[in-house]
Amino acid sequence: MSGPRVLAIESSCDETGVAVVVGGRRIEANQVASQVALHAVTGGIVPEVAARQQLRWIVPTLEAAFQQSGVGWEDLDAVAVTHGPGLIGSLLVGVNVAKALAVTHDLPLVGVNHIEGHIYANWLTGAAETPLPAEPPFPLVCLVVSGGHTQLVLMQDHGRYTLLGQTVDDAAGEAFDKVGRLLGLPYPGGPAISAAAVGATPATRFPRARTAGPYDFSFSGLKTAVLRAVEGYRARNEPIPIDGIAAAFEEAVVDALATKTLAAARDHGVAAVALGGGVAANAALRHSLGQRLRAEGLPLLVPPPALCTDNGAMIGAAAGFRFAAGDRADAALEAVPNLALPWLVP
Ligand code: KG4
Ligand code: ZN
Repeated sequence: MSGPRVLAIESSCDETGVAVVVGGRRIEANQVASQVALHAVTGGIVPEVAARQQLRWIVPTLEAAFQQSGVGWEDLDAVAVTHGPGLIGSLLVGVNVAKALAVTHDLPLVGVNHIEGHIYANWLTGAAETPLPAEPPFPLVCLVVSGGHTQLVLMQDHGRYTLLGQTVDDAAGEAFDKVGRLLGLPYPGGPAISAAAVGATPATRFPRARTAGPYDFSFSGLKTAVLRAVEGYRARNEPIPIDGIAAAFEEAVVDALATKTLAAARDHGVAAVALGGGVAANAALRHSLGQRLRAEGLPLLVPPPALCTDNGAMIGAAAGFRFAAGDRADAALEAVPNLALPWLVP
């Protein structure tokens, strides 16, 4: 396969990811060191701990990626790194390591937006997969749902994004994590709630939020509704039906995400819909949205779960296309905690 071979680093939050990706599509290595077990102890991410762990794991993860790919520095065309959005201490580790490696090995540097990475996970394929699968078609509506973001993005072409809508309060993943904690489930709440909800009958029907924008989301009211329900059971001295509440919460989140995404896809006459971000690993969301889109004759693209949560390969995918388009960063590249995609004006 042709195209640039990129070494990609992701360190924006609590995962240390290093990957080797060719032509923005083919994964030759993808190593992820996760801090989930560590943050489970505190029930959430402590930024200083996350940054220290990035520092602890970046070199071993780099070494593992080189070992997995079998390539050397002379085989690489560029070094790419997430420079935002994310936690500043975590971002700085990847950005500084990437800069140092690019200078030392005389390689071009590409800065990647983390959200763009989640979208480009849909372009990835395994090293052995031949022929290369078709690329996602344009125009494309992408639902990016992670711990930090919930955005509906219209993508007209590579690098051309319009923000259609976003959450006005909590991100979808954040809602999963907070409700998980409320129900006494382990961190992170997303996979735990999803597992509790499997096969359970919803204990209630939580209200769906109204938002001003047609493609906006709101999850904080739902979180409060769950809290009230839990308090109600406690006040009545009744056992809390954890699985049933998890199922009702998941149903409400999935319904909101699927309804708005479907509307955006219809209204913009897209060729397909793509999912990205940690919450895209949610089986109920994949199933429900897939089914509703199929009824409209629209395909749903979803990366395998391991490429939905933070990883280096998705950064390598976005970087491959950016690099091919002539995008280059330099030693001035900064970590930007609230970095936005370069939105087109709708
Ligand atoms: O994309 P990601 O790894 O990190 C961020 O960029 O934030 O997303 C992590 C989020 C967490 O909130 C986690 O609870 C959620 O993704 N998540 C899930 C599932 N797996 C991970 N949420 C719902 N269902 C899942 N199966
Ligand atoms: Zn992410």
